[in-house]
Order: sequence, then C-alpha cells, then structure tokens
Amino acid sequence: LSHVVLKPFKSPPVIGTWPVIGGMIQFLKGPIGLMNNAFPKYGEVFTVPVFHKRITFLIGPHVSEHFFKARDADMSQKEVYEFNVPTFGKGVVFDVDHLTRAEQFRFFADSLKSDRLRSYVGMMVKEAEDYFGKWGESGEVDLLDALSELIVLTASRCLLGREIRETLFSEVTTLVHDLDKGMVPLSVFFPYAPIEAHRKRDAARRDLAAIFDRVIQARREANAHEPDVLQTFIDARYRDGSRLTNDQVLGMLIAVLFAGQHTSSITSTWTGLLTIANKERVMPTLEGEQKKVMEKHGGKIDFDVLAEMDELHYAIKEALRMHPPLIMLLRQCHKPFKVTTSKGKEFVVPKGHIVATSPAFSHRLNNVFSDADTYKPSRFRQPSPEDKEKFASFIGFGGGRHGCMGETFAFMQIKTIWSILLRNFEFELVGKLPEPDYEGMVVGPKHPCTIRYKRRKL
Ligand code: HEM
Repeated sequence: LSHVVLKPFKSPPVIGTWPVIGGMIQFLKGPIGLMNNAFPKYGEVFTVPVFHKRITFLIGPHVSEHFFKARDADMSQKEVYEFNVPTFGKGVVFDVDHLTRAEQFRFFADSLKSDRLRSYVGMMVKEAEDYFGKWGESGEVDLLDALSELIVLTASRCLLGREIRETLFSEVTTLVHDLDKGMVPLSVFFPYAPIEAHRKRDAARRDLAAIFDRVIQARREANAHEPDVLQTFIDARYRDGSRLTNDQVLGMLIAVLFAGQHTSSITSTWTGLLTIANKERVMPTLEGEQKKVMEKHGGKIDFDVLAEMDELHYAIKEALRMHPPLIMLLRQCHKPFKVTTSKGKEFVVPKGHIVATSPAFSHRLNNVFSDADTYKPSRFRQPSPEDKEKFASFIGFGGGRHGCMGETFAFMQIKTIWSILLRNFEFELVGKLPEPDYEGMVVGPKHPCTIRYKRRKL
C-alpha cells in the first residue's frame, strides 16, 4: 500500500497578512468591501478569520451548489441564525431540533401555498388601492418610507389577521417596531447583551405575547376560520396530533413577518427607483403590458391576472438581482466537503467553518450576467434567460433546500403595488439614484429615496 499516494486536498486560502486581525478588520468594515478585495486575489473560495471563527466564502454558481443542496445534518442554519431566538421566541424555528423545525416549516409552507395566496391577493389589492387613493394629484414621497408603511398594513391583514389590522394596529405596529430595532449587528454575536435595544425588544415580545394570547384564545373559543396565516398556525398539527402553543403561534408569525417585511419593502422600492431611473428604456414595455393585461381582464387584479404580468416580473427580479436585501447567507459546516472552482482548483472546506455565500456579490459577476452593473430586465425574458444556465446563478431568494418560501407571496405583493402605481401615476426621481446602505441588517437604499408623482390614467 505504501506506493498509493493520496492527493492531499487543500483547505481554502486564508485572507489577511496577519490572519486574525486582518480578516477581522476587513469583515467589520463590511462584507462587500472584503469580497471586493479578496475575490480578485483569491478567486471564488477563501477563508476569513473573524474572532475565533473561520468563515469560508463561496462566490458564484460554480462553487455554491453544495451550500444550497446539502442536508441540514451536513450544513445547518441553526447555529448561524440562532441569534433570532429572543426575537422569535422559544420553541420555534431556530430554538428546536431539526425534526421539529422541519414540521414547523411544513406549517409555513401550508400558510403560503397557492390556494391561500389567492385570498391574500384580494387583501393586498384592497390595502394598496386604499393607500394610493389617499395620494394627491401630484407630490413628492420617500418611496422606501411609503412602501414600508403599505407593506406593514398588508402584512398585518394577511399574516396577523383582521383583529390586529382593524382594532389593534397602532399598538402592535409600535411593538413590532421595538422588536425590529432590537436586532442590531451586536445581536448577531451577543443576542443577550444588556443594552437598551435588547431590553425594549424583550419587553415588546412580552407585550405582543399578551395581546396574541387574547386574540388566539378568542379564535379558538369561537372555532373561527379566518383566511389568514394566523389561522393556519392555530389549526396546524404536528404528526403526533399536538399543536403549537399560543406563544409558539406568535413566534411563527414573527418569523414570517420578519422574513417578508424589509425584504419586500426594499425590493419594491428598488423596483420603482430603477425603473424610474431607466424610464426611457424600460417604461414603454411595462406600461404596454399593463394596458394589454388590464384591458383583457376588465381592470381587475387577481392572482391569475398578476401571473400574466411577465415584464413586471422581470423588472422586479432584475431589481432583486442588482440589490438583494439579504447580502450574505450563512451555514455551519458539520461535514467537510470538496469544491471545484471554475478554473479547476480543488479545495476541501473543513468541518467547523461557517460557510457564506453572497447574493449581492455573485449577482454582479460578469461571466454569469452580461453587463452585470446595468439594469436590464430583458435578461430574464424567455426562452433563454441568463439565470437558467447554471444552478444557483440567481440567489436573491436563496435556493435549493432552504429557498425562500415566500417568493410567490412577495412577487404578488410587489406586482400589485407596481401594477396600481404604473397605471395611475407618472414618476420622476428627485436627486440621484441612492446607494445601498450596507450598515443595515437587511440592506436597502440609503435615504432619501424621494420621487415626484403626478396622477394620470394609463
Ligand atoms: C428564506 C429572500 C420574502 C418567507 C429566504 C432566503 C432568502 C429570502 C435569500 C434564504 C435564506 C437562506 O438560505 O439562509 C427573500 C426576499 C424576499 C422574501 C428577497 C422579498 C423580496 C419573503 C416573504 C416571506 C418569506 C414575503 C413570507 C411571507 C421565507 C421563509 C424562508 C425564507 C419562511 C425560510 C425557508 C427555509 O429556511 O427553508 N428568503 N424573501 N420570504 N423566506 Fe424569504
């Protein structure tokens, strides 16, 4: 056997001349800057030491397939997203073993499947028509503020339910705001650090629990059948017949709310900003589609009508390609795995590393997307869309085993908003197109995002 030479697999290169300090400083300055520096030098796979951890980056579709396809036992989310536990609450999502979590994710999937979505679209349309109906003949708005407000209203109706939307809205919105502000970059490393933001977060979580306890109890006693996500969680049953406690129902709702709130507000804002900034090139196609589809359906929007708006779909998807709100996705590696780069280099990512991939960075690779820095919705037009050449080229919604469960919900919501806006207003940007604000936990455009509108009928 002595003549058998096993080819030694190499670990990925470690960035930084002083391994610990170098990587840490770069990481704290922001992951995008770090990738901008490291990618040209090391290529698609490299490791960054941060505190006592090793983070291995996998950039682009050639090396990130395993990240998306691996089993939870080999690459898990629990350890890296566990900092959400004080916000979501005990006994749900990242605070349970992975079999229980799989069952809870079945509850998410049930609440977001297409027969449910059909009834949510009606609520989305009502909220958006009421909201934009209050805009004047002409004026200026901060698009991010306006669309965030509308999406809170819609989410509270579709997810949290009629009681909250109609009678407890402002109280619950204030508490959700405190919960949201309780998640700061420090929380990722020290979720229980004794700071004011965490104290307010914990108080808000307790007050929400008291409110939802009453609402859920009332629904259980009335044997209610409301058409919202809250009801699906109340009705959900584990395989052994047991059900979620009232506090766990709330925990699941908070998880869905947090997954969809900033991500959708930001994506609908970028869709507007980018289409307005490129209006000569992209508006005629979008307006033409609105005219055609709405004439065909007598001016009414529902699930099937939205599904016909392909050009609007590409415009949203292209905004998400250029500016994905979740700029980094993470996993904990429990079993070493091999990656082969596009240049044929092989590395083994060791057990114990955190593994990261970046929608924001990968989406700008010119060998995957032509003119990657140009807003070009037509790149997704059938029959040969640029993202379909390789698995995991477009990862704005993640992909594979843990791909976004709210993707259709998000598209329906953003399409509803822009279908109504495109048909009823014309727009121009006030000032320059904003830059992304990489300091946020979920990355959106920097303020101000001011646009000017003028009412019209398409
Ligand atoms: C997962 C993005 C809207 C529910 C994800 C992931 C991404 C993502 C990137 C994968 C995370 C990872 O792999 O670590 C987005 C974007 C949205 C959006 C960009 C809006 C434009 C929504 C909405 C909902 C939702 C509206 C619910 C109503 C979920 C859930 C998961 C998820 C439940 C977890 C799936 C799993 O781990 O198996 N989303 N999301 N998302 N998203 Fe979304």
